[in-house]
Amino acid sequence: MKPTVYITRKIPEEALEIIQASCEVKMWDKEDTPVPRDILKKEIQDVEGIYCLLTENIDAELLSEANNLKIISNMAVGYNNIDVEAASEKGIMVTNTPGILTETTADLTFALLMAASRRLIESSDYLREGKWKTWSPMLLTGQDIYGATLGIIGLGRIGEAVARRANGFGMNVLYNGRSRKMRAEEELDISFADKETLLRESDFVCVLTPYRPETVNLINESELALMKSSAVLVNTSRGGIVNEDALYDALKNGEIWAAGLDVFKTEPASPDHPLLTLPNVVALPHIGSASKHTRLNMAKMAADHLLQGLNDEVPAHLVNEVRV
Ligand code: DGY
Repeated sequence: MKPTVYITRKIPEEALEIIQASCEVKMWDKEDTPVPRDILKKEIQDVEGIYCLLTENIDAELLSEANNLKIISNMAVGYNNIDVEAASEKGIMVTNTPGILTETTADLTFALLMAASRRLIESSDYLREGKWKTWSPMLLTGQDIYGATLGIIGLGRIGEAVARRANGFGMNVLYNGRSRKMRAEEELDISFADKETLLRESDFVCVLTPYRPETVNLINESELALMKSSAVLVNTSRGGIVNEDALYDALKNGEIWAAGLDVFKTEPASPDHPLLTLPNVVALPHIGSASKHTRLNMAKMAADHLLQGLNDEVPAHLVNEVRV
């Protein structure tokens, strides 16, 4: 008998076909919105596999409903939407999709860095709104990228990929994380700095650390106060790592110069979000990995993980220690 699985959103056809070839599939495909919790609560009861997105909050309460669940395959590298400890206690495997989205997310991180520092959105609006009357020496002037210092908070795969891009721009790169990475320091010509030094010395600060209890509000009022008034903050990781109220105040009061944000504490962010009222914020709707090629590969990788777990194999990217 084929195992039964539940897919929480319509996924690319190629990924769906991989799953359909060996599973009985049920899917939330009514609309492109997260599956209602009561439906997921019901569906999780009997299935052996769940294929989900970062929009699903797979917490202990939901997991307590699962009777036959073997694997949760998350189509994202971040898995803070899943209570991994609760899953492990029930012997449920959890997988994510690292690696394949690294370069795409690094591209977007750099795009935000450039857009915020050179005021691209503001300048484009200026032109479209008919405000461009003449070339002017100090019109829409921004901050230089070439030769500046970039501070990377969280030197994982994406952090390293951002550092490689920074090298091409002649930037000096500092990083901070849980541990020193000697190989990366050598290969990328980057230096470790404690968080305070990094914040004080960087012209650009990129937040690329995973969302964990200890990284909630990692960048708050006192961290922002250390930054240069000309500095640009970029966050493409998770919204809760940067305190949004503190960021708003710092941007509004000129304590830092600009921010590029792809992620928000609550998503989707409301169009009335205070940060969106500031001209020195470039904001995007969590599109870090959103290239056609990468999203398709993420979808297929998550499909492969699902089948590996259902076949009692150790999935390629298992994030918890569960005896298979
Ligand atoms: C992830 O994978 O965690 C990103 O936030 C979306 O690609």
